Amino acid sequence: MITIAVSKGRIYEEALPLLAKMGIQPIDDPEKSRKLILPTTRDDVQLVIIRATDVPTFVEYGAADLGIAGKDVLIEHGAENLYEPIDLNIARCKLMTAAHKDAPPISGRVRVATKYVTIAQSYFASLGIQAEIIKLYGSMELAPLVGLADCIVDLVDTGNTLRANNLEPRELIMNISSRLVVNKASMKMKNAVIADLLAQFEQILLTSAQS
Ligand code: ATP
Ligand code: PRP
Repeated sequence: MITIAVSKGRIYEEALPLLAKMGIQPIDDPEKSRKLILPTTRDDVQLVIIRATDVPTFVEYGAADLGIAGKDVLIEHGAENLYEPIDLNIARCKLMTAAHKDAPPISGRVRVATKYVTIAQSYFASLGIQAEIIKLYGSMELAPLVGLADCIVDLVDTGNTLRANNLEPRELIMNISSRLVVNKASMKMKNAVIADLLAQFEQILLTSAQS
């Protein structure tokens, strides 16, 4: 059995067409079902539905053989103990700093609200800016509006969330997309089937890039 860890919502929705092209279609819809293990149309493949931030953990420990996770989550988690063979090019966005549109440029000592504590720390350190990082678990955009922080580090796609809150994007930290990750032991123990799945993913991505 091959277990693939996927998070509900955006990644699941964008991964579903790729998986379907490989003949992997979940029997239940995770948005409707309370089941956490979803059998698929392939007898030897099941999906586990978990929080996006938990995907690297499940794959590192071998609770899932494969996983789909955002590069943001992989870097923040520090995913050295797994393979990251394929950029699936889905759930694309940018990790950026953002601040109130009337706020002065970031300089000197700065207070930053984010869920990406590690990334933010090293980003500001690389610029020689002294940053006090405030860990939040969501709604980062609120922090500058209520005086909790001078700026935020968060994901930006359309920019709608920033605009709706009178914030503006400032500096790009990195471009983000979701990656296929593989447990190292599974890669050895289940090599034939995993190598076949990886080849299928690559073929599908190649075909969709050409069309
Ligand atoms: P958790 O449930 O663990 O808090 P989450 O709520 O951040 O995770 P999602 O919003 O589904 O989960 O995001 C999953 C991944 O999708 C992120 O790690 C990122 O790589 C990508 N992503 C997040 N927001 C966007 C967006 N607005 N546009 C495109 N991709 C995004
Ligand atoms: C993400 C991110 C931003 C928003 C950016 O939130 O944390 O708030 O998307 O996208 P935009 O630039 O297109 O507005 P998401 O929608 O995933 O909500 P959540 O993380 O709070 O669940």
